[in-house]
Amino acid sequence: MILKGGRVIDPASGTDAVLDILLEKDQAVKSGANLSPQFPDETVLDCRGLWILPGLVDIHTHLREPGYEYKETIATGTRAAAAGGITTLACMANTLPVNDTPAVTRYILEKAEQEGIVEVLPIGAATHGLASERLSDIGLMKEAGIVALSDDGVSVGDAGILRIVMEYARRFNLPLIEHCEDPATAKGGVVDEGETGTRMGLRGIPCVSESVIVARDILMARWLGAPIHIAHVSCRASLDLIRWGKDQGVAVTCEATPHHLALTVGDLFQSDYDTRFKVNPPLREEADRQALLAALKEGVIDCIATDHAPHDIQSKMVEFDDAANGISGLETALPLALSAGREAGLTPLETVSRLTVHPARVLNIDRGRLLNGGLSRLVVFNPDEPWEVDPAHFFSRGKNTPFAGKTLRGRVKMTLFDGRRVFVDAANPWGLKPVPDKKA
Ligand code: DOR
Repeated sequence: MILKGGRVIDPASGTDAVLDILLEKDQAVKSGANLSPQFPDETVLDCRGLWILPGLVDIHTHLREPGYEYKETIATGTRAAAAGGITTLACMANTLPVNDTPAVTRYILEKAEQEGIVEVLPIGAATHGLASERLSDIGLMKEAGIVALSDDGVSVGDAGILRIVMEYARRFNLPLIEHCEDPATAKGGVVDEGETGTRMGLRGIPCVSESVIVARDILMARWLGAPIHIAHVSCRASLDLIRWGKDQGVAVTCEATPHHLALTVGDLFQSDYDTRFKVNPPLREEADRQALLAALKEGVIDCIATDHAPHDIQSKMVEFDDAANGISGLETALPLALSAGREAGLTPLETVSRLTVHPARVLNIDRGRLLNGGLSRLVVFNPDEPWEVDPAHFFSRGKNTPFAGKTLRGRVKMTLFDGRRVFVDAANPWGLKPVPDKKA
């Protein structure tokens, strides 16, 4: 296949240029100017006006399988990922049962092999049952194939256990991804604690619930010489601490989500208590969002991660206090990330780095690069095409998005995974038909 005349944006090689891309049968990726077909049956796609990016790497996805298949499955979640341009995703451990044993890790990998259409990398729980009491089977899960540790949904609450987890994480060369939330101060909260949340009459989660754990974790990581990755940072104070940690030489990295970069608690207020805006950490005030954008530009925020948290309709169609936290984010991530990047003053190359090589680096995997020996996993993207988000068309079972009805700029036209078409937008310029080759 030859992709002709697209703007190739490949942060790993520092490339941002109009090039032809040739995908060989053995999946080697070649680039050049004016490549012409060598075989009569070679597909040539005119990509003028389109961008060609390495397949995106999402370090934070909830696939819900095993246990919550009514919210999402590996089959539907990986299709949603492909539709979002994501070809590698790391899936969180808060399944049922929790991924805290090698049996669950193997189950996820086998399912992904049979039914998934992009690469699925399981994250193992740091502690058994996410309960912060005893360690999970870290070494055995590493052998089975986990790429990171996380109790996401909650923090590793006990600092003594955290210390041992960090020592194991360092020993097994597994990044520890922390959901930073102090339960004592966050308890019962459902929105940001601040002026807007108070006006709404809802119980708040203050920023300090997040930043007090961020501080603890950075200090612990500094003491132990261990790496720490902070998930879904939401407020300014946390960013100040992460910046300080980086300045001190601590191996601290962090991610922000497209929704925290795009929305505030003010949007939630205006939505009239729409539970699709309910997420943990909660949407914060505009000053925090601005701090996130500045930190994205500055490089304090290393990655943009979806925190794709699909939920069934019943979990959301209840009173705000009782609704589940989470946003279904795989299928809107790329246009939202690029729009945040534009707002923050990043070049497309810089924004794409936060979605490809940076998360790959945190996970210690060689992914997210296209040229110079990268994989034939790529996204063809129309940067200007407007489209209205209609969750009824999502591949994800989770229709819970606050962006429903909103018009986004930029649309994924095609995603290739190891040279195979795993997503083709029905309105593609080439008239190609999607050919899903595995059971959905
Ligand atoms: O909003 C969220 N939903 N935040 C989390 O940390 C967990 C996630 C979920 O699992 O639904």
